[in-house]
Amino acid sequence: MYNAMEIKKNIYWVGINDKRLELFENLWPLEHGVSYNSYLICDEKIALIDTVAEGNYEYYLKKIQSIIKDRKIDYLIINHMEPDHSGVIPTLIKNYPEIKIIGNVKTLDIFKNFYGGEDYFHLVKEGDQLSLGEYSLKFYPIPMVHWPESMVSYEETTKTLFSNDAFGSFGSLDGGIFDDQLDLVFFEEEMRRYYSNIVGKYSVPVQNALKKLASLEINCICPSHGPIWRSNPQRVISLYDKWSSCESDPGVVIVYGSMYGNTGKMAEAIGQSLAENGIEDIKIYDASKTHLSYILRDIWKYRGLIIGSCAYNNGMFPPVENLTTKLLQLGVKDRLLALFGSYSWNGGGVSNLEKFAEKINMELVGESIEVKSSPKKEDLEKLRELGKLMAEKLKS
Ligand code: FEO
Repeated sequence: MYNAMEIKKNIYWVGINDKRLELFENLWPLEHGVSYNSYLICDEKIALIDTVAEGNYEYYLKKIQSIIKDRKIDYLIINHMEPDHSGVIPTLIKNYPEIKIIGNVKTLDIFKNFYGGEDYFHLVKEGDQLSLGEYSLKFYPIPMVHWPESMVSYEETTKTLFSNDAFGSFGSLDGGIFDDQLDLVFFEEEMRRYYSNIVGKYSVPVQNALKKLASLEINCICPSHGPIWRSNPQRVISLYDKWSSCESDPGVVIVYGSMYGNTGKMAEAIGQSLAENGIEDIKIYDASKTHLSYILRDIWKYRGLIIGSCAYNNGMFPPVENLTTKLLQLGVKDRLLALFGSYSWNGGGVSNLEKFAEKINMELVGESIEVKSSPKKEDLEKLRELGKLMAEKLKS
């Protein structure tokens, strides 16, 4: 085996760890890389489940061929067409021209538009089964988790779910590939960052998918990014249920935009008051310093959200405006929201935050607090009161 790893008898991880890519989807920072997980089932028939991103083909092929030697690949199962999983398919087809591609009708449509050709396609629909010999795969479309054609494949003998993006996370697989071999604290954070930024907008389809899969007995989840969940797959299923229901923990994210530090001082006053009033989990982010993806990750976790902005060209400070736009797009809801900010001559930060608050489905706590230029003693008192009110609401 050339750096492939066996998951169960004759089922292998043949994925790629990408530590070079800076931005996933050319948007999301990858400080610790990402894995493109691909799986190989070596039975009477040979099936490959999803592939890897373009640029990794030679190494990927070596992993596969170290297991199958000169046998042919009979089937390629496409659970998801996004190019991080499909990028090498045109090259793979050149190497294995007799390969049959398994996908649903929406997969075929996207496939044709990306790569042309449909001769190798075998269409499947919900509940269809593909026998490989000892093993057998059953297919379940889970549209919009993460694209319209997304589906999962379930191997019945081993009770293994190949789930593609669902239950995936950022972070490369350093050494081990299983959850019990890896740093779970890190991967749970990165799984939530992946969920909130990539999948979270489709939380209603996630709920539908969870209902659809609820009757399956699942012993092992093999997603297309991050760890293979074999020690307690029910835990990640319940995390997905929690996140897609917008359930939250009793902490607070304070995020602010500040040109010269005055709105930052306001954030600190609120944070100190929250701590004095018994809130343990408090995250304060300068929206100019911390990438949006990390802030959204924590907003998805905590029930309290306090947003501050200085005025900038009669509007919100741009990184805060960007955050509020994203929150509306994602449909984050069921949070306690409070607002604050500063201005020096014409305002626009807080007034636009208030317009945002009218549009988003969150409960407003207290009155927004706006100061001129820098917070004075009496302003800091008001901010502390706001922190206390938020703490009381969170604890009630
Ligand atoms: Fe990992 Fe939606 O692609």
